[in-house]
Amino acid sequence: MQIIRSVGELTDYVAMQKNHHHAIGFVPTMGALHAGHISLVERAVRDNEVTIVSVFVNPTQFNNPSDLATYPRQEEEDFRMLAEAGVSAVFAPTVSEMYPSGTAREHEYDLGSAAEVMEGKYRPGHFQGVAQVVHRLFELVRPDRAYFGEKDFQQIAVIRNMVESEHVDVEIIACPIRRGADGLALSSRNALLSEEQRRRAPGIYAALSESVEYARTHTVRQTHEMVVERINAIPEMRVEYYEIVDGRTLMPVEEWSESDFVVGCITVYNGEVRLIDNIRYK
Ligand code: PAJ
Repeated sequence: MQIIRSVGELTDYVAMQKNHHHAIGFVPTMGALHAGHISLVERAVRDNEVTIVSVFVNPTQFNNPSDLATYPRQEEEDFRMLAEAGVSAVFAPTVSEMYPSGTAREHEYDLGSAAEVMEGKYRPGHFQGVAQVVHRLFELVRPDRAYFGEKDFQQIAVIRNMVESEHVDVEIIACPIRRGADGLALSSRNALLSEEQRRRAPGIYAALSESVEYARTHTVRQTHEMVVERINAIPEMRVEYYEIVDGRTLMPVEEWSESDFVVGCITVYNGEVRLIDNIRYK
């Protein structure tokens, strides 16, 4: 596996692969890798002749400076996992390599209404930062296919809108959420949980999965309440939002009959650690 640090080396590497007509699969990450990330990587390795993974903690998508400062980093372990998964090259630049003229955004991306709700509301500027870095990475890597996890359900919709509004020629592939045996969605941020918080964290998915059965005989509003109450009853946990939305537009639904694709998206503070998850109802 090639370890690439500079934009120049990366564009040379990509040009060489394009000359050989190799299909390029791309998995953008912020490192602190776990089996969720690796499931995307394995899919990319299966689908493409060449797989490039980026490991870059993008400062422009953090609206909270302490979240950026505490974000877990473990580069050597990440590289070992990627090499083992059969990755061709990893791109791990510094902040100044990615943003040579500073991190200020040059233009506002058109990300559609999907970027205004949920994470868009609670983390202002977050999706502009995600769009900025992913667009820049797409320009450098020029992938045929790019892989994203449904754990960040809204992020996929926003990336699709960015790809459309910026006319990027790439296929966006959504991959299922990977969970631990206890149901907790794997996340780099799980490493920040205390032992107690980690022990209670599966309560989020327990409430979500139980609510799928509950939803068969209850309204959207009742189901929403049940999830929020159950999770808020767990010590140290506070639901920031729970929204039951149309899986395509991400707009809230009021009746189950309104859409044939309904997803519940949740954000929970477990102590100071912000966790996100989602569940499909229909
Ligand atoms: P990061 O949180 O590192 O996630 C990288 C990719 O891994 C995302 O597509 C995310 O949805 C996926 N992923 C994370 N946990 C997962 C799980 N348990 N199961 C399946 N997939 C999972 O998302 C980002 O980084 C950044 O916003 C990025 C797109 C890299 C832009 O900076």
